[in-house]
Amino acid sequence: MIELENIVKTFSDGGENSVEALKNVSVSINDGDIYGIIGFSGAGKSTLVRCINLLEKPSSGTVKIDGIDITELKPKELREERKKIGMIFQHFNLMPSRTVIENIILPLKHSGLSKEEIYGRARYLLGLVELSDKENAYPAELSGGQKQRVAIARALANNPKILLSDEATSALDPQTTDSILKLLKKLNSKLNITIVVITHEMDVIKQICNKVAVMDQGEVVETGDVFDIFANPQEKLTKDFIKTTSNLYKLEDILSDNPDGISIQADDVVARLTYLKKDVSEPIISTVTKKFDLNLNILLADVEIVSGAPIGGTVVIFSGDPKNIEGAIKYLKDKSVRVDIINFDKETDKNE
Ligand SMILES: Nc1ncnc2c1ncn2[C@@H]1O[C@H](COP(=O)(O)OP(=O)(O)OP(=O)(O)O)[C@@H](O)[C@H]1O
Ligand SMILES: [Mg+2]
Repeated sequence: MIELENIVKTFSDGGENSVEALKNVSVSINDGDIYGIIGFSGAGKSTLVRCINLLEKPSSGTVKIDGIDITELKPKELREERKKIGMIFQHFNLMPSRTVIENIILPLKHSGLSKEEIYGRARYLLGLVELSDKENAYPAELSGGQKQRVAIARALANNPKILLSDEATSALDPQTTDSILKLLKKLNSKLNITIVVITHEMDVIKQICNKVAVMDQGEVVETGDVFDIFANPQEKLTKDFIKTTSNLYKLEDILSDNPDGISIQADDVVARLTYLKKDVSEPIISTVTKKFDLNLNILLADVEIVSGAPIGGTVVIFSGDPKNIEGAIKYLKDKSVRVDIINFDKETDKNE
C-alpha cells in the first residue's frame, strides 16, 4: 500500500546550515497494516509520514502509494491521489469558528456530492466516531478526546485508504488515549483502512500495531512484526523502548530500593525468562520444577497479549542442586525461552 524507497530529506536554510532529517529510509507498509513508527523527538518521524502524502517533498527517493509513484504526478493528479490519505495530529487542527459537522464536511466542499449526500456522509462518520450528539457543538465545547474524534471523522470524509496519525494521542490522558486507540483499531478492521501511527510510546505500539519501525536520528534502525520485536529486540534503542512498558526490567530497581526485601541464597540463580514463541501454552515453570527437582520462586511476572499472542515472561529464583539448575536453563532455552541471568554482585545483566 505504501512503499517508501531510499528517502532522503535535507532541510537547508539556504546558507550553510542544513539538517539531514531522513538519511536513507525505506519502509514498506501493507494494505490493512496498523504500522507504528517510534522514536525520540527529532528522530524524523513526522518528516517521514509527511513524505507519504508529500506535505514534505523528499530530497531524493520514491513514494509509491498503491503502486503509483506520487513524486511523478502533476499537481492536479497529486490532489486526487492525496484524497486517498487522511491525517490526524496531536493538536487536532479543527476550525474553531465552525461547528463539529461543518468541520467534517470541509474536505467534501469540491467533491461534487449534493448537500444531502455531504451531510449524510458527515452524519454517518459522526456515528462511526460515536459523537452524533455533538453535531452542532463548537470545538471549544469539546474535550480533547472528542476533538480528536471530530478530527478523525474529518480525515475519513473522502473515504481514504490510508490514515496517518502523528502523535494523535500525545495530548490526551491515559483513559482517553485508550479509547482513541480502540477507535483506530475499530476503523482499521471495519473500513479496512491502513493506518500509520507515529508515537514515542511503546504502549501505543503494543496496543494496536501489527508492525513497527524504530527510528533514530533520521534512520530506521529496526523493523518487524510487533510480536517479534517485543520478543526479541535487536537494537539497544528498541530494548530501551520495550523496557518502558514491561515490569520484567524493573527488578534491578526494586532490589536496589529494597536490598533486604528478597532473600537469595548463595547457590540460587535469579533469571529473567522471556517467551520468544507465540505458543506458551506449555506450563514451563511447573514442568521445570518437577523435571529438575528445583524450587522456582516467581519474583515478577508480566504476560500480555500482543498482536493476538501472549508475550512477556517472569523473573524467577532457581533454588536447588547447581547441576540441576544448569540442566533446567538448558531445557528452557531448547523450548525457545530466553534466559537472562541476573547477577546482583555486579549489578549488571548478563545476556545468556
Ligand atoms: N521545516 C523544517 N525546517 C528545518 N528543519 C526541520 C524542519 N522540519 C523538521 N526539521 C528537522 O528535522 C529533524 C526531524 O524532525 P521531525 O519533526 O521529523 O522529528 P520527529 O521525530 O517528528 O520529532 P518529535 O517527536 O519531536 O515530533 C529535526 O532535527 C528537525 O529540527
Ligand atoms: Mg513529530
